[in-house]
Amino acid sequence: MNDPCWCGSGTKYKKCHMSLDMDIERERSLPIDERVAKTVVRGEVTPMRSVPHDIDRPSYAETGVPADSKPSLVKTPDEIERMRYAGKVARVVLDTVGAAVAPGVTTEELDKLAHETYIANGAYPSTLNYHGFTKTICTSVNEVIVHGIPDSRPLQEGDIVSCDITAFVEGVHGDCCATFPVGAIDDPSARLIAVTYECLRLGIEAVRPAARMRDIGKAIQPYAEKFGFGVVRQFVGHGIGTVFHMEPQVPHYYDKSATLEMLPGITFTIEPMITMGDYRSNIWDDDWTAVTVDLQRAAQFEHTCLVTETGVEVLTKGAHEDF
Ligand code: MF3
Ligand code: CO
Ligand code: CO
Repeated sequence: MNDPCWCGSGTKYKKCHMSLDMDIERERSLPIDERVAKTVVRGEVTPMRSVPHDIDRPSYAETGVPADSKPSLVKTPDEIERMRYAGKVARVVLDTVGAAVAPGVTTEELDKLAHETYIANGAYPSTLNYHGFTKTICTSVNEVIVHGIPDSRPLQEGDIVSCDITAFVEGVHGDCCATFPVGAIDDPSARLIAVTYECLRLGIEAVRPAARMRDIGKAIQPYAEKFGFGVVRQFVGHGIGTVFHMEPQVPHYYDKSATLEMLPGITFTIEPMITMGDYRSNIWDDDWTAVTVDLQRAAQFEHTCLVTETGVEVLTKGAHEDF
């Protein structure tokens, strides 16, 4: 207890992370039936919204099936310029949705607000009818890791909600996500959100020409695990551009086999999903909603990144972020 804290601050453990560790331990040792009692309850899902016909749509908008194309990993200057714009639009929608998160607001209301904001910006919500997904955004509450479907459940004080936003505009996609607190949240949840954001930041810091894709997970995994948190393996970051999901895969854990070299002009997402406990997931019978196997909470942050001649450009950067 009088030893220096494990976090490397140089302060004594009992003055640094001890009380938070104890809170997290208490949270972790909750009996499963208490956790089940607190689990996210499904609400009603409204039918798919429509997008005005003058807005350009991706290949799958009508059929649900993306066209089978394999574009080059390295983007042209013109594509990059368009991706800067798509990234900005995604960011505007994420900021708008984030500002509306509050106790009593339903995720359906967030979805509707996002839909109107996309349209006002001349963009198509990339998730809409993507492999049959029926909503404009993904909203993942508490133990939901990713791909939560917006519904009529009102957010409750103390919840955390990840909002994942992907805009299709000028023929390309921009993808970003953030986890927001709903009113006042407990300290373990606040820690989970802060650590997850730092994981994204560390991942982005590993991006530069001649680095390898595995360097991203190599930076993220030890940091998350230092806090006893889990790094989700079932879902990974992805190449992005004229196609929503393409090569390369971007694991957030250390995967030795991810040896692809980062070349200037490659664009991909980094989107770590970090769990309070077990990193493994189950999928609800809606075939989308991924929840942690132990029903402990998960958080996620995501940015769309471009490898430049000297390092990285973050295409979905927020006003207060400096990458
Ligand atoms: N935006 C998510 C990602 O980061 C993908 C959502 S696909 C959906 O890759 F169909 F679930 F919406
Ligand atoms: Co996303
Ligand atoms: Co993504």
